[in-house]
Amino acid sequence: RPRVLSGIQPTAGSFHLGNYLGAVRQWVALQESCDAFYMVVDLHAITVPQDPAALRESTRLAAAQLLGAGLDPARCTLFVQSHVPEHAQLAWVLNCLTGFGEASRMTQFKDKSAKQGAEGTTVGLFTYPVLQAADILVYHADQVPVGEDQRQHVELTRDLAERFNGRYGPTFTVPGAYILKDAARIYDLQDPSVKMSKSASSPKGIVWLMDEPAASAKKFRSAVTDTGGEIRWDPEAKPGVSNLLAIHAALSGVTVADVEAKYAGQSMYGPLKTELAELFAEWVAPFRARTLEFLADTAELDRLLAAGAAKARETAAATLAEVYDRVGFLPPA
Ligand code: TYM
Repeated sequence: RPRVLSGIQPTAGSFHLGNYLGAVRQWVALQESCDAFYMVVDLHAITVPQDPAALRESTRLAAAQLLGAGLDPARCTLFVQSHVPEHAQLAWVLNCLTGFGEASRMTQFKDKSAKQGAEGTTVGLFTYPVLQAADILVYHADQVPVGEDQRQHVELTRDLAERFNGRYGPTFTVPGAYILKDAARIYDLQDPSVKMSKSASSPKGIVWLMDEPAASAKKFRSAVTDTGGEIRWDPEAKPGVSNLLAIHAALSGVTVADVEAKYAGQSMYGPLKTELAELFAEWVAPFRARTLEFLADTAELDRLLAAGAAKARETAAATLAEVYDRVGFLPPA
């Protein structure tokens, strides 16, 4: 069975629809056919300032949402990144293999550091993609299910794996990005020229999974579209409508072409928006209920996460031992 690995940041509290459609939905499907490792990346979260109590809470909330979305600890390995110290240990070794210029070219770093300013930008933010590479390589993952915005980080991971293998002998699996075409990038409902994201979206343009469903329904109904009423997939000329078609297709489990066909010949956007709001409400209600249930029993949640981390560590520790040996570290007597 192919090995997959992915991670999600806990920092926004609630996940948004882009997180779910671009990534988490694939994670749920892949746990059936793959040997799957999924984690809440709290080490990555502290690359920007976090309140300690809020971070602890949002880490549990993130794990509960992953379970609420359908991850099953009997089918996948679900854990918290900081529970497995080998990630940070391997990241150090990879840091020493990464070029300064290479890391400087990461577009997410450029965007985020521009926002933080030179003094607010941490070295942790700079080496963030290297830690992500360690996350992936420490499990010998074959595939990394992510949204389009993570493609460059997976490319860096491949480069680092090949570089290490070339220098020290075959050690790492060179992973590929697993990106679904239709939901690779979900856009802001108010401004379909930017991706839906915690940092870039307007409050009315981002759909939070843990919000009251009525509030989200309103956001779908007031989504920005163009003035022509034709319902057609055309991301260049009709980015707003195309985004709605992509969301519709993903939520109803069909292709964009299917949704397009369903609305062919219609000259108004209203029905599409209303149906989308209903479709979302139908999906999100049970998701929220399950998430809140998992969140209510923190002892059980923490136990699940501890068991996941113990399982993850078996693989991570073996990889790190091999890496330390290849690099030439003297083993402790
Ligand atoms: P994060 O927490 O920003 O996002 C989690 C996942 O959601 C996807 N995503 C989207 N997909 C489609 N449309 C959108 N608008 C959208 N917004 C977010 C992201 O692509 C991602 O897959 N660096 C990663 C976390 C990470 C990781 C890893 C991922 C750490 N280590 C190892 C894979 C493997 C991140 O910040 O994702």
